[in-house]
Amino acid sequence: MQQQQLEHFKKYFDDYVSTFYGGDEFVNQNIKLKVDHTRRVCREILLIAASIGLSDEQKLLAETVAIFHDIGRFGQFQKYGTYSDAESINHSGLGLRLIREKKLLADLSSREIKIIERSIALHGKKDMPDSLDDKTAIFSKLIRDADKLDIYCVMLTHIDNFRKNPQQYLASMGFPNTRRCSAEIFDAVMNNRTVHYKDLKTLDDMLIVQMGWITDINFVETLRQIKKRGYIEQMAALLPHTPEMKKLTAHILRYLDEKIVKA
Ligand SMILES: [Fe+2]
Repeated sequence: MQQQQLEHFKKYFDDYVSTFYGGDEFVNQNIKLKVDHTRRVCREILLIAASIGLSDEQKLLAETVAIFHDIGRFGQFQKYGTYSDAESINHSGLGLRLIREKKLLADLSSREIKIIERSIALHGKKDMPDSLDDKTAIFSKLIRDADKLDIYCVMLTHIDNFRKNPQQYLASMGFPNTRRCSAEIFDAVMNNRTVHYKDLKTLDDMLIVQMGWITDINFVETLRQIKKRGYIEQMAALLPHTPEMKKLTAHILRYLDEKIVKA
């Protein structure tokens, strides 16, 4: 893959997303949220890719995965008015359909296409399958880490809006902004288990599950960035200051430190 091809993909992305803006401010805000997210995920994936010594050509491939990983989000929001896959459609599948229909990757090798498509298909799955070949596994892990790293940023930047506009939040995300953590979610995170998005019931559940994502992070650079940027502490500050939540935060911070020290 070559730089010129990446530039072509970036141009396609810009042109494509520009068609989703219109007269509705709610739609525009939500589209911009995913456009900005995608741009930052492109930077995050390169940061992590550099830490594991990927070649320049492999970095082009990683950035391509990042550009297209959420390309299905725009059609999803336009058609269903929500980013909740459970209440609409699987956004990864929708993105892959677009990529194939428009033959966006036609100039790449079949090996590269396979890596990109698999990585997009797996980026939002609760768990990764064990049966991936080494290369596909690396790129899938990269996009999963880069995506999570930026979702922390999205949550921390937009939480005030989410809390102030519960109805809009409910519409975009599919669950209410109530101050209550579900017992099953608390249990899962305390036991380092991943949780399916469909099991989330409240905004606090979502914050807790996202804090627990650190057990599902693949590269130590991602963990180092989470620690350096203080994401866990900032997320914890948004939760009720109960002994239970303090216990959960301490558990997560301990896990984070142990993983970084061991690496
Ligand atoms: Fe994403």
